[in-house]
Amino acid sequence: MEPTDRLVVALDFDSRRPAEEVVDRLGDACGFYKVGLELLTVAGPDLVRGLVARGKHVFLDLKLFEIPNSVAGAVRAAGALGASMVTVHSMGGRGVMNAAVTAARDFPRLRVLALTVVTSMTDTDLDDIGVTASTTDQVGRLARLAMESGCHGVIASPREAALLRGHLGPDPLIVTPGVVLPGESPDDHARHATPWAAVAGGASYIVLGRSVTRAADPVAAVRLVRSDVAGRPEAIA
Ligand code: C5P
Repeated sequence: MEPTDRLVVALDFDSRRPAEEVVDRLGDACGFYKVGLELLTVAGPDLVRGLVARGKHVFLDLKLFEIPNSVAGAVRAAGALGASMVTVHSMGGRGVMNAAVTAARDFPRLRVLALTVVTSMTDTDLDDIGVTASTTDQVGRLARLAMESGCHGVIASPREAALLRGHLGPDPLIVTPGVVLPGESPDDHARHATPWAAVAGGASYIVLGRSVTRAADPVAAVRLVRSDVAGRPEAIA
């Protein structure tokens, strides 16, 4: 896989136009976009259809946490839109993840990814909600549950990628947000790493949002991600 294929750019925008402008500006430099709840809510499913019609892969980050029947319906809706990835909260348990995976069977290109612990959370945040395990242990536990439930992969922070790759073996997808360019401010990511570190740790795909979409030159930003993944951090100096 070419390093650039591992890149998913998160279109976190509050309206359709700036999102499409970024896609236009990136052109062939990016073939995979993440659409989250904000953009989906303001722009609607047509935006996703438009991306798919342009030959782009879409990661529909729905972060589903509902009763199994509702989760199955949402996964079918994502599949019908042509999404390539959809997310479900692993904390919903086996029933929810099983429902998602079963619903996805009608859509051969759709991958169900289980969200473990969001990258902004710390051990203290977990303790606040009654989870006494560390973030690392909780990510490992939920990832194992996701695999037992038939999910195609997991979402985790890059800090856990190596551990998960060791636990899960070579096949499951490991998708990591919380990726920042070297020297960049981590913003709200508590458990962040560079593109190279994430991929070296075993990430199948890395998700970057603001580092690319808010860059003065998004194509140049993608180039920096690529050089970093290729292990040439000096290119970023
Ligand atoms: O920070 P960035 O703009 O690269 O965020 C890209 C994606 O990473 C977001 O769409 C969000 O889903 C995810 N993210 C996360 N934890 C954070 C910040 C962002 O999982 N603390």
